[in-house]
Amino acid sequence: MSAILLAITGWNPQEWDARFRRRAHGHDIRLWPDRIGDPADIAYAAVWKPPPGLLAQFPNLRAIFSLGAGVDALTGDATLPAVPLVRIVDADLTMRMTEYVVLQVLMIHRQQRRYDAQQRQRLWRELPQPAAHEVAVGVMGLGVLGAAAAAALARLGFRVAGWSRTAKPLDGIETFHGVGALDAFLERSEILVCLLPLTPATDGLVTHARLRKLKRDGALGGAYLINAGRGRLAVEGDLLAALDDGTLAGATLDVFAEEPLPPTSPFWAHPKVTVTPHAAAASVPAALVDNVLRQIARFERGEAMDNVVDRTAGY
Ligand code: NDP
Ligand code: OXD
Repeated sequence: MSAILLAITGWNPQEWDARFRRRAHGHDIRLWPDRIGDPADIAYAAVWKPPPGLLAQFPNLRAIFSLGAGVDALTGDATLPAVPLVRIVDADLTMRMTEYVVLQVLMIHRQQRRYDAQQRQRLWRELPQPAAHEVAVGVMGLGVLGAAAAAALARLGFRVAGWSRTAKPLDGIETFHGVGALDAFLERSEILVCLLPLTPATDGLVTHARLRKLKRDGALGGAYLINAGRGRLAVEGDLLAALDDGTLAGATLDVFAEEPLPPTSPFWAHPKVTVTPHAAAASVPAALVDNVLRQIARFERGEAMDNVVDRTAGY
């Protein structure tokens, strides 16, 4: 019987193990590091941030399933076996990200942090409030998550634009693509939402110079960054400089170059920063285990799997 190896760090592996064991009929479930058994039995690996080098130890591995949408922790492993690498695309994960982006955009737009501060001062003062259609939001990355978030923001009335690698026409959204169009995209955006994958081409893309291009004289009276993609998309030193010199009026950060965010990080206590602990869109076993098992069943029937990562592009 072909076995599925679970190798999960940073999340609770027991929940995944329990769910896979309940749902995976016809497959033995092995849990790294204590219950691997004979490495030759492992045909599939379902993983989140496995230690580099681990997956190279299974001579009969046929496919790797990332339990998250992002695969940078896997593509960064030079020893990763050359079998299909499949990432999660699932309505549950997409909706969670859409909720996060809409929430954080509305927190900025509706000035909730200022109202929180006023409440602590027992201050009853209504702030001038622009309409959503006066506010320009730019979404970097128009993939599964970026396109869904952009559509939800457009439905709320925001002036939404998106930026991607290749041309991607979307109803009700102004679209830009390629590095050549990046400045124009930034210049029209007051709130920049980062939902790019981390690849060699996107690593360090958000620099101080690029943040300077954001629109600061729009309806919000300043520029804001929301990063729910990967921490390394932005140069963290540049981000801090941009917050401190007024280039950015605020930043909402879910992802960081080092996670968990070290207690000494200046982001924790920065008055203009909202920190969430890589919680924008959780991978939930109850929603995603069946998704992986469906893909394995297709593979075993000789059908094409969905969402196979393009190893040359890195996502
Ligand atoms: P997709 O692969 O569906 O979309 C990626 C998008 O980024 C595409 O539009 C792609 O362009 C664009 N892109 C990639 N490289 C470049 C580039 N060099 N220049 C411009 N655009 C580029 O990914 P998802 O939407 O599913 O996920 C996006 C990321 O979100 C994940 O990789 C992960 O890092 C992060 N994530 C974070 C979570 C959290 O909880 N914080 C949860 C889940 C995911 P094109 O369409 O032209 O290919
Ligand atoms: C993911 C993530 O990529 O949680 O799914 O970041």
